[in-house]
Amino acid sequence: MAGGVAGVVAHRGASGEYPEHTMSAFEAAVAEGADAIECDVRLTKDQHLVCLHDRTVERTSDGTGAVSELDLADLKAMDFGSWKRPGKPEPVVTLDELIELARTSGRKLFVETKHPVRFGGMVEQKLVAALQRHGLAKPDDLRDAPVTVISFSGSAIWRVRRNAPGVPAVLLGEASRLLGGGAATAVRAQGIGPSVESLRERPDTVAKARAAGRFTYCWTVDSEVDVALCNGLGVEWIATNHPARTRSWLRG
Ligand code: G3P
Ligand code: CA
Repeated sequence: MAGGVAGVVAHRGASGEYPEHTMSAFEAAVAEGADAIECDVRLTKDQHLVCLHDRTVERTSDGTGAVSELDLADLKAMDFGSWKRPGKPEPVVTLDELIELARTSGRKLFVETKHPVRFGGMVEQKLVAALQRHGLAKPDDLRDAPVTVISFSGSAIWRVRRNAPGVPAVLLGEASRLLGGGAATAVRAQGIGPSVESLRERPDTVAKARAAGRFTYCWTVDSEVDVALCNGLGVEWIATNHPARTRSWLRG
């Protein structure tokens, strides 16, 4: 985190300008000076974790179908780039590939589990296994952990904290749900993740979290006024689709 100001997290990569969750979006996030990268993960039919937000591939690719019904090879044959940048095809990115980019570029990751019900807990199991395989499940200092797991699902957070106590976790939700601290305490989350819309309504959420020993991760912070709000409140991490301009707003 640079200079004591909020750390900038590139939401789905630099997804304002580049196709979300592609290598071009993740590499642009690094080039634009983001401190960390956020990605969503889903499980393929053959049990690989891939960086995708939606349950199905139609919105962001030239393919069709549910991620959970497709093998990794099927997804790798699809084009996830041209819908945003015509004529610039890009393959799906696996979590392993993103971890390698984070390692070589020295960026942190915020990995969000999405929840195909049919896998019941398998996403978290595979995620913890991947972090262990890459040596990322036991950081020396939790405050400086290379990977933080984030989720709207309390049970997902609880499973990660149980199986990988060295990996910090953030419970996402609206500020009104997170404000009292009970939901985060119940699943042993070290951070809370309110939407910026809900934080505008309840800015006291940040100070209350800090008093309880928790940090705040706010999403998705794309306007100058919201960046200023978060910075003024001392939000530790702000997720944005536009890391470069967010960096320059923070520099003032
Ligand atoms: O970073 C949290 C945020 O990404 C949650 O919403 O729908 O963009 O995954 P969504
Ligand atoms: Ca997300």
